[in-house]
Amino acid sequence: MKIKENWSLPDLKEAGRRTRSAIERVDQYLIPAHAMHLGEGKTYHISTYGCQANERDSETMAGILETIGFKPSEDLEHVDVILINTCAIRQNAEEKVLGEIGNFKRLYKENKDLIIGVCGCMAQENSFVKLLLEKYPQVRLLFGTHNIQDLPQLLYEAMNEHTKVVKIYSKEGEVYENLPVKRFGQHKAWVNIMYGCDKFCTYCIVPYTRGKQRSRTMEQILKEVQELKNEGYKEITLLGQNVNAYGKDMENGVDFANLLEEVAKIGIPRIRFMTSHPWDFTDQMIDVIAQYENIMPFIHLPMQSGDDEILKRMGRRYTSESYYELYQKLKAKVPNAAISTDIIVGFPNESDEAFQNTLDLVEKCKFDNAFTFVYSPRPGTPAAKMEDTIDAETKKQRLYTLNEKWGQYARQINTSYEGKVVRVLVDGMSKRNENVYSGYSETNKLVNFTGENIHPGDFVDVLIEEAKTFSLDGKAI
Ligand code: 5AD
Ligand code: SF4
Repeated sequence: MKIKENWSLPDLKEAGRRTRSAIERVDQYLIPAHAMHLGEGKTYHISTYGCQANERDSETMAGILETIGFKPSEDLEHVDVILINTCAIRQNAEEKVLGEIGNFKRLYKENKDLIIGVCGCMAQENSFVKLLLEKYPQVRLLFGTHNIQDLPQLLYEAMNEHTKVVKIYSKEGEVYENLPVKRFGQHKAWVNIMYGCDKFCTYCIVPYTRGKQRSRTMEQILKEVQELKNEGYKEITLLGQNVNAYGKDMENGVDFANLLEEVAKIGIPRIRFMTSHPWDFTDQMIDVIAQYENIMPFIHLPMQSGDDEILKRMGRRYTSESYYELYQKLKAKVPNAAISTDIIVGFPNESDEAFQNTLDLVEKCKFDNAFTFVYSPRPGTPAAKMEDTIDAETKKQRLYTLNEKWGQYARQINTSYEGKVVRVLVDGMSKRNENVYSGYSETNKLVNFTGENIHPGDFVDVLIEEAKTFSLDGKAI
């Protein structure tokens, strides 16, 4: 099948260039009249990979699809549109996506009207797009992270013309407000506060796949939070690749501390935010977190490494010492705070000493939780060009050692909860046991508990009876 005219491959190099051009903000979203009823009598399914930004994008795509008449469906044998929202952060994320697209080939063979669309961060990668166009005939539609608002028109073309449809902008465009959204959670909601990232950590593909940092205006964010409160949402999470840099791309002097405070004043019961970069974390932000009871005492603070030389080569702009200072400041001002982190092992030429420095910092910080990864070179990023002589087995061993280490402290912290009472926002029944409820504590601990007459969205006080590495067990009191 040929590709509809006027398309081009994305270019990561171009995507990484930063221009000073002003960010345009579009407040009104219009769907072309001819696409307005496109989905009537039809169904869709979305597979989402990766981070919360992708989750939130999938909610927007679902909102757009339902606005034009589509209904959601889990019945893949009969569905009309499948969208796969992809993640490019590490190679294994990419492999999972390709596996799923491969599995969908049979569905396409049996139903040539099926539209399989691929979007998200991998769609910003030239080599991936080429591969899909050459080897995956089942993929009928490809669109990028900056083209979500075009979905109605793109689907219209794919459904009505016998062509593949490709629309991928390498660079970010406008910030769209008021795109439709179908929230997947009943009590918890994601709120974007900014898009993109300008930090350019040397291992990371995000500044290329998601473009330059663009903050939403405080007015729009507060309006969304107020609406969520009015609709009865109990918890919101403010989302950005680097929330502490909120506002730095605007000229009005507003920063994350101001935003967080105004959001807290709206009075939604629980507020979370992620992800924080240690570099932009100010004392004012810590004060606001400490001051407002509805800002949850939980901070995800990626350290990536505990070695100064590696941190420098990663472009992280802090040292192990300044990270630890920030950590101590947080613990001093928000004494009950739980802190989690991200750590990469096996960055190019990470020596035994460098790895030991990471273990030492983990020992000092005793994190509540950690997400640990073996470094994965991302083509187009500066680190991918760095020489590396450390073998894969050593990297695997380091990951294992690191996981043992942080796991030990996480268990210790969790054990200190035994006999205490925590307040849980109930998600529903546990996935593993249907006689048990589950939800999260203020410090973001997964709590499984028994009780009676409990409903999703309730706040319940739970007495913790037994601690595990990744969760706490207890009973409602
Ligand atoms: N290889 C391994 N881990 C990575 N991360 C980001 N890029 C890479 C990469 N190329 C990790 C970082 C980041 C988390 C979201 O993913 O730890 O904080
Ligand atoms: Fe990637 Fe660094 Fe930006 Fe996080 S702050 S998205 S790790 S470049």
